[in-house]
Amino acid sequence: MQLRILLVLIAILALATTAIGCPASDTTEGTGTEAPEDADETEIDEPSDDEDPASLSNPVVADIESIARGEEVYLKTCVTCHGESGLGDGSASTELVVNPANLTSELTQEKADGEIFDTITNGRQGTPMPAWKGGISPEDRWNLVNYIRTLTGKDEPEASE
Ligand code: HEC
Repeated sequence: MQLRILLVLIAILALATTAIGCPASDTTEGTGTEAPEDADETEIDEPSDDEDPASLSNPVVADIESIARGEEVYLKTCVTCHGESGLGDGSASTELVVNPANLTSELTQEKADGEIFDTITNGRQGTPMPAWKGGISPEDRWNLVNYIRTLTGKDEPEASE
């Protein structure tokens, strides 16, 4: 009788050990699907849609290279509407139903990097501001944010309201 109980206990113990052992080995094998392969990969990912844009932190350091690259993209893609200095006075601006934003303004400059990135990414509904998600890489959109930060101090004095 006692021997049988002991055997049952051993059986339970053996089962428990395999039960614990299995999932553990499964997880180590399974990580390949999600974990990034290269730690030193520099490509910047598209942030996920359910993140609050304002809380996105800028993954691109605003160094000379980033700002120069941002300027290059800006002068090619944004200048017709936002103008060379970012005042919103580009050559196409007079034909638009909504004036392009003055990017040098406090209104824009006070926004978080993530908010500016979000507007560039998704555009602004109801205005001619296009979404650049498909057209400009996430990294270049952050470069644009870094460039827009340099467009300060060119604003005209705020009219009092
Ligand atoms: C077809 C004209 C047009 C082009 C091209 C364009 N924009 Fe805009 N942009 C607008 C308009 C219009 C608005 C909206 C102004 C408003 O909401 O009152 C806007 C708004 C913005 C804002 C929001 C500013 C704020 O304070 O919220 C940012 C940032 C911006 N544009 C950046 C860019 C960048 C960077 C590019 C180039 C990749 C670009 N835009 C290209 C027309 C344009």
